[in-house]
Amino acid sequence: MPRPDVRIFDHAEQLAQVAAEAFVENAQDAIARSGRFAVALAGGSTPKRLYQLLADAPYCRQIDWARLLIFWNDERAVPPDHPESNYKMAWDALLCRVPIDPTRVLRMRGEAQDADQAATDYQQQIAAAMGVPDEGPAPRLDLILLGIGDDGHTASLFPFTKALEEPHRWVAANHVPQMQKNRLTMTLPILNRARRVVFLVTGANKAIVLREILEGPPETGRLPAQAVQPIDGQLIWMVDRDAAGGTRFATETPAVG
Ligand code: 6PG
Repeated sequence: MPRPDVRIFDHAEQLAQVAAEAFVENAQDAIARSGRFAVALAGGSTPKRLYQLLADAPYCRQIDWARLLIFWNDERAVPPDHPESNYKMAWDALLCRVPIDPTRVLRMRGEAQDADQAATDYQQQIAAAMGVPDEGPAPRLDLILLGIGDDGHTASLFPFTKALEEPHRWVAANHVPQMQKNRLTMTLPILNRARRVVFLVTGANKAIVLREILEGPPETGRLPAQAVQPIDGQLIWMVDRDAAGGTRFATETPAVG
Protein backbone atom coordinates (compact mmCIF):
# COMPACT_ATOMS: atom_id res chain seq x y z
CA MET A 1 0.00 0.00 0.00
CA PRO A 2 1.52 3.39 -0.93
CA ARG A 3 2.61 5.51 2.00
CA PRO A 4 -0.22 7.89 2.89
CA ASP A 5 0.61 11.59 2.78
CA VAL A 6 0.89 12.15 6.53
CA ARG A 7 2.35 15.42 7.76
CA ILE A 8 3.37 15.56 11.43
CA PHE A 9 3.41 18.73 13.52
CA ASP A 10 4.88 19.19 16.98
CA HIS A 11 1.68 20.78 18.29
CA ALA A 12 -1.80 21.87 17.25
CA GLU A 13 -0.88 25.54 16.84
CA GLN A 14 1.87 24.75 14.33
CA LEU A 15 -0.57 22.48 12.48
CA ALA A 16 -3.17 25.27 12.33
CA GLN A 17 -0.60 27.77 11.00
CA VAL A 18 0.53 25.44 8.20
CA ALA A 19 -3.07 24.50 7.45
CA ALA A 20 -3.89 28.20 7.08
CA GLU A 21 -0.98 28.64 4.65
CA ALA A 22 -2.20 25.62 2.67
CA PHE A 23 -5.78 26.93 2.66
CA VAL A 24 -4.61 30.25 1.20
CA GLU A 25 -2.54 28.44 -1.43
CA ASN A 26 -5.50 26.18 -2.29
CA ALA A 27 -7.78 29.18 -2.62
CA GLN A 28 -5.38 31.14 -4.82
CA ASP A 29 -4.74 28.13 -7.09
CA ALA A 30 -8.46 27.32 -7.45
CA ILE A 31 -9.42 30.92 -8.15
CA ALA A 32 -6.65 31.22 -10.74
CA ARG A 33 -7.84 27.98 -12.36
CA SER A 34 -11.61 28.36 -12.26
CA GLY A 35 -12.46 31.75 -10.83
CA ARG A 36 -13.76 30.28 -7.57
CA PHE A 37 -12.74 28.22 -4.55
CA ALA A 38 -15.34 25.68 -3.44
CA VAL A 39 -14.53 24.40 0.04
CA ALA A 40 -16.43 22.21 2.51
CA LEU A 41 -15.67 23.05 6.13
CA ALA A 42 -15.32 20.49 8.90
CA GLY A 43 -17.17 20.74 12.16
CA GLY A 44 -16.17 19.70 15.64
CA SER A 45 -13.49 21.58 17.58
CA THR A 46 -10.21 20.80 15.79
CA PRO A 47 -10.61 23.22 12.85
CA LYS A 48 -11.60 26.19 15.04
CA ARG A 49 -8.04 27.53 15.38
CA LEU A 50 -7.53 27.27 11.62
CA TYR A 51 -10.71 29.26 11.03
CA GLN A 52 -9.63 31.92 13.55
CA LEU A 53 -6.25 32.26 11.82
CA LEU A 54 -7.88 32.66 8.39
CA ALA A 55 -9.87 35.62 9.72
CA ASP A 56 -6.70 37.41 10.80
CA ALA A 57 -3.69 38.94 9.05
CA PRO A 58 -1.77 37.83 7.12
CA TYR A 59 -4.09 35.12 5.81
CA CYS A 60 -7.33 37.11 5.61
CA ARG A 61 -6.04 39.59 3.08
CA GLN A 62 -4.44 36.87 0.93
CA ILE A 63 -7.86 35.36 0.10
CA ASP A 64 -10.33 36.81 -2.44
CA TRP A 65 -13.35 36.07 -0.23
CA ALA A 66 -15.80 37.14 -2.98
CA ARG A 67 -14.68 34.07 -4.96
CA LEU A 68 -15.29 31.51 -2.23
CA LEU A 69 -18.16 29.05 -2.03
CA ILE A 70 -18.49 27.73 1.51
CA PHE A 71 -20.18 24.40 2.27
CA TRP A 72 -20.21 22.18 5.34
CA ASN A 73 -19.47 18.47 5.27
CA ASP A 74 -21.97 17.81 8.04
CA GLU A 75 -24.29 19.37 10.61
CA ARG A 76 -25.89 18.40 13.84
CA ALA A 77 -29.69 18.43 14.34
CA VAL A 78 -29.62 21.84 16.00
CA PRO A 79 -30.45 25.42 14.95
CA PRO A 80 -27.68 27.68 13.62
CA ASP A 81 -27.41 29.61 16.89
CA HIS A 82 -26.96 26.47 19.00
CA PRO A 83 -23.58 25.99 20.75
CA GLU A 84 -23.23 22.56 19.06
CA SER A 85 -23.85 23.92 15.55
CA ASN A 86 -20.95 23.39 13.13
CA TYR A 87 -22.24 26.41 11.22
CA LYS A 88 -22.10 28.56 14.38
CA MET A 89 -18.54 27.46 15.15
CA ALA A 90 -17.31 28.48 11.68
CA TRP A 91 -19.45 31.64 11.61
CA ASP A 92 -18.14 32.88 14.97
CA ALA A 93 -14.50 31.91 14.31
CA LEU A 94 -14.26 33.04 10.69
CA LEU A 95 -17.24 33.91 8.52
CA CYS A 96 -18.59 36.84 10.52
CA ARG A 97 -15.12 38.40 10.41
CA VAL A 98 -14.37 38.30 6.65
CA PRO A 99 -15.92 40.10 3.65
CA ILE A 100 -17.71 37.08 2.22
CA ASP A 101 -20.98 37.26 0.27
CA PRO A 102 -23.57 35.60 2.57
CA THR A 103 -25.27 34.08 -0.48
CA ARG A 104 -22.09 32.08 -1.05
CA VAL A 105 -22.19 30.59 2.46
CA LEU A 106 -24.39 27.52 2.10
CA ARG A 107 -25.55 26.26 5.48
CA MET A 108 -26.91 22.76 6.05
CA ARG A 109 -30.34 23.05 7.72
CA GLY A 110 -29.64 20.58 10.51
CA GLU A 111 -32.61 21.84 12.46
CA ALA A 112 -35.12 20.82 9.76
CA GLN A 113 -37.85 18.48 10.95
CA ASP A 114 -37.69 16.58 7.66
CA ALA A 115 -34.00 15.63 7.52
CA ASP A 116 -34.34 13.72 4.26
CA GLN A 117 -35.84 16.80 2.60
CA ALA A 118 -33.09 18.97 4.09
CA ALA A 119 -30.49 16.61 2.58
CA THR A 120 -32.21 16.76 -0.81
CA ASP A 121 -32.40 20.55 -0.58
CA TYR A 122 -28.70 20.79 0.27
CA GLN A 123 -27.76 18.62 -2.70
CA GLN A 124 -29.79 20.97 -4.90
CA GLN A 125 -28.02 23.97 -3.34
CA ILE A 126 -24.61 22.41 -4.04
CA ALA A 127 -25.65 21.65 -7.62
CA ALA A 128 -26.94 25.18 -8.24
CA ALA A 129 -23.86 26.80 -6.70
CA MET A 130 -21.50 24.56 -8.67
CA GLY A 131 -23.51 24.85 -11.90
CA VAL A 132 -24.16 21.13 -12.35
CA PRO A 133 -27.28 18.94 -12.51
CA ASP A 134 -28.52 17.89 -9.07
CA GLU A 135 -28.45 14.23 -9.98
CA GLY A 136 -25.59 12.11 -11.29
CA PRO A 137 -21.89 12.51 -10.52
CA ALA A 138 -21.09 14.83 -7.67
CA PRO A 139 -19.27 18.08 -8.45
CA ARG A 140 -15.56 18.27 -7.64
CA LEU A 141 -15.09 20.54 -4.65
CA ASP A 142 -11.64 22.08 -4.55
CA LEU A 143 -11.05 21.28 -0.89
CA ILE A 144 -12.87 19.26 1.75
CA LEU A 145 -11.68 19.58 5.34
CA LEU A 146 -12.42 16.60 7.59
CA GLY A 147 -11.81 15.45 11.14
CA ILE A 148 -12.09 12.03 12.74
CA GLY A 149 -13.80 10.93 15.90
CA ASP A 150 -12.14 8.49 18.29
CA ASP A 151 -14.61 5.91 16.93
CA GLY A 152 -13.28 6.36 13.39
CA HIS A 153 -16.16 8.44 12.04
CA THR A 154 -15.66 11.34 9.68
CA ALA A 155 -18.15 14.05 8.75
CA SER A 156 -21.26 12.36 10.16
CA LEU A 157 -20.46 9.01 8.60
CA PHE A 158 -20.46 6.95 11.78
CA PRO A 159 -19.50 3.27 11.97
CA PHE A 160 -22.06 0.92 10.44
CA THR A 161 -24.57 3.69 9.71
CA LYS A 162 -26.77 3.90 6.62
CA ALA A 163 -25.27 7.03 5.04
CA LEU A 164 -21.89 5.29 4.86
CA GLU A 165 -23.38 2.92 2.26
CA GLU A 166 -25.04 5.66 0.14
CA PRO A 167 -23.88 4.98 -3.43
CA HIS A 168 -25.32 7.97 -5.30
CA ARG A 169 -26.63 10.88 -3.26
CA TRP A 170 -24.11 13.53 -2.23
CA VAL A 171 -25.84 14.47 1.02
CA ALA A 172 -27.84 12.26 3.36
CA ALA A 173 -29.73 12.32 6.61
CA ASN A 174 -28.07 9.84 8.94
CA HIS A 175 -29.49 8.36 12.13
CA VAL A 176 -26.63 7.66 14.54
CA PRO A 177 -27.86 5.01 17.01
CA GLN A 178 -24.60 5.25 18.99
CA MET A 179 -25.62 8.81 19.90
CA GLN A 180 -29.39 8.48 19.50
CA LYS A 181 -29.15 11.52 17.22
CA ASN A 182 -29.79 12.47 13.61
CA ARG A 183 -27.22 14.25 11.50
CA LEU A 184 -26.93 15.65 7.96
CA THR A 185 -23.75 14.61 6.17
CA MET A 186 -21.94 14.68 2.89
CA THR A 187 -21.46 11.12 1.65
CA LEU A 188 -18.60 9.24 0.00
CA PRO A 189 -19.83 10.01 -3.57
CA ILE A 190 -18.98 13.68 -3.05
CA LEU A 191 -16.12 13.32 -0.57
CA ASN A 192 -14.25 11.03 -2.96
CA ARG A 193 -14.71 13.40 -5.89
CA ALA A 194 -12.82 16.23 -4.20
CA ARG A 195 -9.68 17.62 -5.75
CA ARG A 196 -8.14 17.60 -2.29
CA VAL A 197 -9.21 16.19 1.07
CA VAL A 198 -7.35 17.29 4.18
CA PHE A 199 -7.87 15.53 7.51
CA LEU A 200 -7.00 17.65 10.54
CA VAL A 201 -6.26 15.44 13.56
CA THR A 202 -4.94 16.52 16.95
CA GLY A 203 -4.85 15.09 20.45
CA ALA A 204 -3.74 11.90 22.15
CA ASN A 205 -7.33 10.66 22.24
CA LYS A 206 -7.12 10.08 18.47
CA ALA A 207 -3.84 8.08 18.57
CA ILE A 208 -5.34 4.60 18.73
CA VAL A 209 -7.99 5.12 16.07
CA LEU A 210 -5.56 6.96 13.78
CA ARG A 211 -3.16 4.02 13.89
CA GLU A 212 -6.04 1.67 13.02
CA ILE A 213 -7.14 3.92 10.15
CA LEU A 214 -3.67 4.41 8.67
CA GLU A 215 -1.97 1.13 9.50
CA GLY A 216 -4.69 -1.42 10.20
CA PRO A 217 -6.50 -3.66 7.73
CA PRO A 218 -9.32 -2.12 5.64
CA GLU A 219 -12.44 -2.06 7.80
CA THR A 220 -14.43 0.84 6.35
CA GLY A 221 -17.65 -0.14 8.13
CA ARG A 222 -16.00 0.13 11.51
CA LEU A 223 -13.59 2.91 10.44
CA PRO A 224 -15.45 5.16 7.99
CA ALA A 225 -12.51 7.57 7.64
CA GLN A 226 -10.68 4.74 5.81
CA ALA A 227 -13.29 4.97 3.05
CA VAL A 228 -12.24 8.52 2.14
CA GLN A 229 -10.00 7.84 -0.85
CA PRO A 230 -10.38 10.63 -3.43
CA ILE A 231 -10.66 9.00 -6.86
CA ASP A 232 -8.71 11.66 -8.72
CA GLY A 233 -7.66 13.87 -5.89
CA GLN A 234 -5.09 14.35 -3.18
CA LEU A 235 -5.51 12.98 0.35
CA ILE A 236 -3.49 14.67 3.07
CA TRP A 237 -3.40 13.91 6.80
CA MET A 238 -2.25 16.82 8.97
CA VAL A 239 -1.59 15.32 12.39
CA ASP A 240 -0.05 16.60 15.59
CA ARG A 241 2.48 14.49 17.43
CA ASP A 242 0.03 13.53 20.18
CA ALA A 243 -2.39 12.05 17.66
CA ALA A 244 0.44 10.42 15.71
CA GLY A 245 1.78 8.77 18.86
CA GLY A 246 0.56 5.30 17.97
CA THR A 247 1.65 5.32 14.34
CA ARG A 248 4.89 4.69 12.51
CA PHE A 249 4.98 8.41 11.76
CA ALA A 250 5.34 9.33 15.44
CA THR A 251 9.06 9.99 15.28
CA GLU A 252 9.10 11.75 11.92
CA THR A 253 10.50 15.26 11.82
CA PRO A 254 7.72 17.83 11.78
CA ALA A 255 6.48 19.19 8.51
CA VAL A 256 6.98 22.89 8.13
CA GLY A 257 5.27 25.54 6.02
C1 6PG B 1 -18.89 16.82 13.84
C2 6PG B 1 -17.77 16.70 12.84
C3 6PG B 1 -17.02 15.45 13.13
C4 6PG B 1 -15.70 15.92 13.70
C5 6PG B 1 -15.04 14.82 14.49
C6 6PG B 1 -13.81 15.36 15.24
O1 6PG B 1 -19.97 17.30 13.48
O2 6PG B 1 -18.62 16.47 15.00
O3 6PG B 1 -18.11 16.84 11.59
O4 6PG B 1 -16.79 14.61 12.05
O5 6PG B 1 -14.83 16.33 12.63
O6 6PG B 1 -15.99 14.34 15.42
O7 6PG B 1 -14.28 16.31 16.17
P1 6PG B 1 -13.22 17.15 17.05
O8 6PG B 1 -12.49 18.03 16.09
O9 6PG B 1 -14.08 17.91 18.01
O10 6PG B 1 -12.33 16.13 17.72
